[in-house]
Amino acid sequence: MARNCLAVVLAAGDSTRMKSSTSKVLHTVGNLPMITHVIKAAQSADVDSVALVVGRNADEVAAAADTGLPVSTWSQNERLGTAHAVLAARKAIEEGFDDILVIFGDTPLITSKSLANARAALAEGADVAVIGFRTDAPDGYGRLIERDGQLAAIREHRDATDAERAITFCNGGLMAISGRKALELLDAVGNDNAKGEYYLTDIVEIARAAGGSVVAVEASAEEVLGINTRVELAEAESLWQHKRRHDLMMAGVSMRAPETVFVSHDTLIEADVTIEPNVIIGPGVTIRSGATVFSYSHLEGAVIDTGCSVGPFARLRPGAELQHGAKVGNFCEVKNAVIGDGAKVNHLTYVGDADIGAKANIGAGTITCNYDGVNKHRTIIGAGAFVGSNSALVAPVTIGDGSYVASGSVVTMDVPADALSFGRARQTNKEGLAVKLKERSLAEKERRRKAGN
Ligand code: UD1
Ligand code: CA
Repeated sequence: MARNCLAVVLAAGDSTRMKSSTSKVLHTVGNLPMITHVIKAAQSADVDSVALVVGRNADEVAAAADTGLPVSTWSQNERLGTAHAVLAARKAIEEGFDDILVIFGDTPLITSKSLANARAALAEGADVAVIGFRTDAPDGYGRLIERDGQLAAIREHRDATDAERAITFCNGGLMAISGRKALELLDAVGNDNAKGEYYLTDIVEIARAAGGSVVAVEASAEEVLGINTRVELAEAESLWQHKRRHDLMMAGVSMRAPETVFVSHDTLIEADVTIEPNVIIGPGVTIRSGATVFSYSHLEGAVIDTGCSVGPFARLRPGAELQHGAKVGNFCEVKNAVIGDGAKVNHLTYVGDADIGAKANIGAGTITCNYDGVNKHRTIIGAGAFVGSNSALVAPVTIGDGSYVASGSVVTMDVPADALSFGRARQTNKEGLAVKLKERSLAEKERRRKAGN
């Protein structure tokens, strides 16, 4: 029978080194809060329930932790150490679980694989399974002291001897504990150490002294990277982006300069899409096969269908939907608008709150005037319509199928299908008048010179 599991997620840190007014676990990697990354990894490792130990911003942290799993929230009012933090969730642990996973909220790159490995060690009979990693720079980490294939102890850096400090196998901080033993082990932890804290790591020796089995399972150093500062946050972002871009390229996405392309946690890009250098993809973007996104484009909340072309220098904002083969070119902004099949919005244009029909052509400099200072209104442009350059379409307004709007128009009334609409003063030419104007100006200049000014 499957073992059930509670994840105790520690997020009560005071985030001092982040120099932030919000809890550090709310800071994002790939535009997703760190705490959400951690809970999602737990979810993929078949965790049944989450006990969140929080300090500041409890409500916001709890909201970010909601990924569909049941979450209970526990506050740790005094920060007396990692074992003390886990015990803040005592009542959740008492509900009775086969496995307890202790995870840090500031370790966003942890994989479900490593969490599952730690749980598997419990299933094979261990009382505690610690997630360890190897590093050439072990300073500051707890050292994993192994004897005869078992973990004998974890020694915190400050409490370690020189010989112990030479060990490069370190505690990642995360561990799995047998649910039946967890409270007994945690309650036995004291605070007689360099920091005067209740160390979670002490349960290793406690379990061994009681004749229990304790093992270390190895993860990569990247996975257990703990984020304390914005510098480390940027490092995590960089590692995360690197992995995502690698996965996308392996799945058939072309990028000439992948290190200049940034994606988000929910970015979906199909095979045979090309992303040119320097493209920023915010949350909620889907790009379908055969589309190309040219350099310096910024996309967010947008769906780009097959064969579309975006940019260079395009901005797609939430609600932008480009249908098959549509083009949005340089210095165009699209928001909450559908650009129909094969329609073209090629230059210097703002399309907001609009529906543009198939194969319509929107001339350079066209603006949908969607906002009257109070409300937003929609602009409807029919299939095959042609909007001349530098036109202002004052919404709400409808431009009929196949109609033609003359360049420079300010359109305030609906245009019927197939009509030609002029929304500007008619041009008049005055023969020879330019010469007369110039003569008059020169005479004026001469008069001023003589008058001495
Ligand atoms: C901890 C481990 C260390 C390991 C390192 C890996 C202990 C005693 N030490 O050290 O062996 O190498 O992680 O990064 O576990 N927290 C609370 N309440 C507290 C104390 C901590 O919620 O009272 C949270 C922190 O916010 C943080 C996590 O627990 O997310 C770890 O605490 P931290 O103080 O950073 O432990 P380290 O000294 O890094
Ligand atoms: Ca830490």
